[in-house]
Amino acid sequence: MGKNSVSLRGKDVLALADFSADEIQTILETAKEMKNIIHRDIKKVPALRGKSVVTLFYEPSTRTRSSFELAGKYLGADVVNITAGTSSIVKGESLRDTLYTVEAMGVDAIIMRHKAEGAAEYASKVVSPVIINAGDGAHAHPSQGLLNLFTIMEKKGRFEGLKAAILGDITHSRVARSDIQGMRKMGIEVHLAGPKTLLPRYLFEEDGIYVHDRIEDAIKNADVINVLRIQLERQKAGLFPSPREYARIFGINNARLELAKKDVLILHPGPMNKGLEISPFVAYGDNSAIQEQVQNGVAVRMAILTHALTGGKEV
Ligand code: CP
Repeated sequence: MGKNSVSLRGKDVLALADFSADEIQTILETAKEMKNIIHRDIKKVPALRGKSVVTLFYEPSTRTRSSFELAGKYLGADVVNITAGTSSIVKGESLRDTLYTVEAMGVDAIIMRHKAEGAAEYASKVVSPVIINAGDGAHAHPSQGLLNLFTIMEKKGRFEGLKAAILGDITHSRVARSDIQGMRKMGIEVHLAGPKTLLPRYLFEEDGIYVHDRIEDAIKNADVINVLRIQLERQKAGLFPSPREYARIFGINNARLELAKKDVLILHPGPMNKGLEISPFVAYGDNSAIQEQVQNGVAVRMAILTHALTGGKEV
């Protein structure tokens, strides 16, 4: 472990609000080592041999679930996946009983996604395996926040003094909350912009966080732009006029990119609505690190599992 290392063994990963800057840095440093493993021909180390991990997903996922599964497998853990649609959850089994059932099988960690805010914290109170929150409602998505920080660290080499813009549906975004918490802890200045209906100023404005009505003001001279997925059901709820209108006023395109720093880093948690919150030119352009975010997601999740289950042994 590096000089900033702190022991995270047995610590539930519920929200970045529960982590200090040193703890975040420790995970990011380990993720650097883990990324080397992903690039090897034989992607297997025995760091978690003998450990068992369950992913328990009540909501759909492509990136988070499969990258946690690969992360566990690359580290030698046994990984079992439970999804709501193919388990006894469809027969009405409660969350509590499902957690008890998984615990009884002797697992070491449960990686959990649920639509209810606080579901992961609830799990941490009722069962003993380490709980890793893979997204609970609009509350938190800590591994996404960490992989975004890792990508920024790799590309910019620092956090202090950077300006990040987070754009879109801030109110309903667990990614935005985890980004804001993580970025502020690491010294990044955060600028938010989106439709007023999706960004109540009073909820977010505090030290180091600036709320803008116009997207242009948020992205001016930005080092990082994190574009959030706009959820189309918000339009049905009347929270923005139409997808076309949203793209015109809040979408990130080449013209708007000119306002940011030349080497601005474009992030998006995925899945993207191309042509809506982000143009295809920006999504696949030179400034985009969206594909790298996915790869970094595996490395960061390997680091999270290693620290939570072993305290961060050398690999
Ligand atoms: N970024 C993210 O959480 O993606 P998935 O929903 O595919 O896991």
